[in-house]
Amino acid sequence: MLDYSKSFIEKQFPVAKLSKESYRERKAGRSQTLTGLGKWWGRKPLILVRAALFGALLPVSDDMKKDKEIFLKILTMDKDGFHNRHAQKVTNILSDEEFDQLDYNGLLDVSCRPEEISGPDEKAWEEINAHLETNAHNLQELAQQLGIKRFGHIPRVGDCFAGGGSNVFEPARMGCDVYGSDLNPLAGVLTWADLNILSCSEDEQKELVKFQEEVFDAVCAKIDSLGVEENEDGHFAKYYLYCNETRCPECGYMVPTFPSLVISQKQKLVVDFEENPALMNFNMHLVQKN
Ligand SMILES: C[S@@+](CC[C@H](N)C(=O)[O-])C[C@H]1O[C@@H](n2cnc3c(N)ncnc32)[C@H](O)[C@@H]1O
Repeated sequence: MLDYSKSFIEKQFPVAKLSKESYRERKAGRSQTLTGLGKWWGRKPLILVRAALFGALLPVSDDMKKDKEIFLKILTMDKDGFHNRHAQKVTNILSDEEFDQLDYNGLLDVSCRPEEISGPDEKAWEEINAHLETNAHNLQELAQQLGIKRFGHIPRVGDCFAGGGSNVFEPARMGCDVYGSDLNPLAGVLTWADLNILSCSEDEQKELVKFQEEVFDAVCAKIDSLGVEENEDGHFAKYYLYCNETRCPECGYMVPTFPSLVISQKQKLVVDFEENPALMNFNMHLVQKN
């Protein structure tokens, strides 16, 4: 008997496994799904958002163990799910025996992320549907059917502090209706890009890249014509470094304040000072040490 007055997440949540999956997603660096669209500190891992979404949609039964098994199956964090994630990642497939010897970290090492496969396979859907009394064959249908059972409509997910957009993107990818806003216009643009650029066809993406290149070239041409970007040797600035200065109460000089004089350890770049008595301050130069 399924109880929709409660959610799976109110009863249990496999925190340890999800922490490992989230960590693994974070460590994927630039191959994370949203990272390429723009840098945003602290984007929530998509697997965590997916888990929270299904955790909130899933009803509870009188068999907590089975509820958890089904939850993990939906997220392809069960044994069969890992087999599929493993098959997607490598050509050299491990035997069942080798697979059984791996702990969760070991499984993650040889498998791709849940979002890199399309979801549970047909056999898993049979078990999921039998337990949840649904008729789904993909994650979007499941989210929508659970939403209709619980709320009478497709789930609506909103984040009014959307930041990098994970809470908006992942539910949209799972077939929910989504709403997002943010005070910071950059967050707004990123969340818009998550939804609209990643859902574009390849042709539309090519069109967009072409448009970006045209804008980039036009802006560069305009700046070049102003003659403000290059110095007399034709170098143009990639980075601007600055520091605050404070007046010395004893000698009256403006003194730069730095946490460190090292700019780049790798390139052995440090800041050097040259006294400028006329202006009672210091000129700063970047020097490469041998
Ligand atoms: C921690 S981030 C958001 C993280 C995001 N909700 C998530 O879970 O991944 C907090 C966001 O709240 C936004 N924010 C702060 N004050 C706000 C306000 N009054 N209205 C809308 N957004 C606001 C910030 O710009 C920032 O992007």
